[in-house]
Amino acid sequence: MGKLDGRVVVITGAARGQGEQEARLFVAEGARVVLGDVLDEQGQALADELGGDAARYVRMDVASEDDWTAAAVAAKDAFGGIDGLVNNAGILRFNELAKTPLAEFQQVVQVNQVGCFLGIRTLAPEIAAAGGGTIVNTASYTGLTGMALVGAYAASKHAVLGLTRVAALELAPRNIRVNAVCPGAVDTPMTNPAALDPAADPVASQQAVDALYRKLVPMGRAGRPEEVAALALFLSCADSSYITGQPFVVDGGWLAGVSLF
Ligand SMILES: NC(=O)c1ccc[n+]([C@@H]2O[C@H](COP(=O)([O-])OP(=O)(O)OC[C@H]3O[C@@H](n4cnc5c(N)ncnc54)[C@H](O)[C@@H]3O)[C@@H](O)[C@H]2O)c1
Repeated sequence: MGKLDGRVVVITGAARGQGEQEARLFVAEGARVVLGDVLDEQGQALADELGGDAARYVRMDVASEDDWTAAAVAAKDAFGGIDGLVNNAGILRFNELAKTPLAEFQQVVQVNQVGCFLGIRTLAPEIAAAGGGTIVNTASYTGLTGMALVGAYAASKHAVLGLTRVAALELAPRNIRVNAVCPGAVDTPMTNPAALDPAADPVASQQAVDALYRKLVPMGRAGRPEEVAALALFLSCADSSYITGQPFVVDGGWLAGVSLF
């Protein structure tokens, strides 16, 4: 028996990275998944690989109200209802706050914060109609602490934790649990954009990423997207049945304190 047998879960940003691994793990645990993203080719290829009985790809910009409405309709058409959501889509921009253009700040907030809000607002009534379920929001290590050069991102991820706590309070009476994952550094295209650059040397860029996190993270490495997916699964299944409104850090010990070694 799978931990998500009979469940239907919408996962945003599911074409690659953590969202892709969440989709793979959720399907392996018996869920049917709706994969939302703006990377059509990768999203459709993943849905095809997982099979039509288990997965559908829906093009959606999480910052668009209309796209959320259409995704909810598509999910219900495909699988009859929705009882889970993983708000995973996100973008990262590096800049000093004092030099950040307003448009850049707003773009990060639109995807990371407004996208999460719209997901909750659009799908909570559907999940309630299905008798209850789960919402997992993707915050970050930087939702709990600061980091230089990622001001817009950190602000948006702090906001995701605020949304998580309020949604947990408001949705508990409707049998919906809402929690957040807070990854540290995870080995995806977000932390290693050179991996997507055909001109970059993949070995050199991976070595640079590895060297950085060997120094910064007590466990001596970046996380794997599968390790975040395992936490999202825990928060989406009955193993976490008495947990709601909480942030869960998955960071190899980075946030534990100052490492001297
Ligand atoms: N990788 C890390 O180190 C790390 C650390 C902390 C938190 N996170 C968070 O984890 C989540 C997943 O990131 P990842 O590491 O897999 O990065 P990623 O860049 O590989 O994946 C992000 C996915 O979101 C999609 N996306 C971006 N904008 C979108 C939009 N407007 N609408 C729909 N989809 C959109 C992208 O196309 C991509 O498929 C993000 O919320 C990110 O902020 C990542």
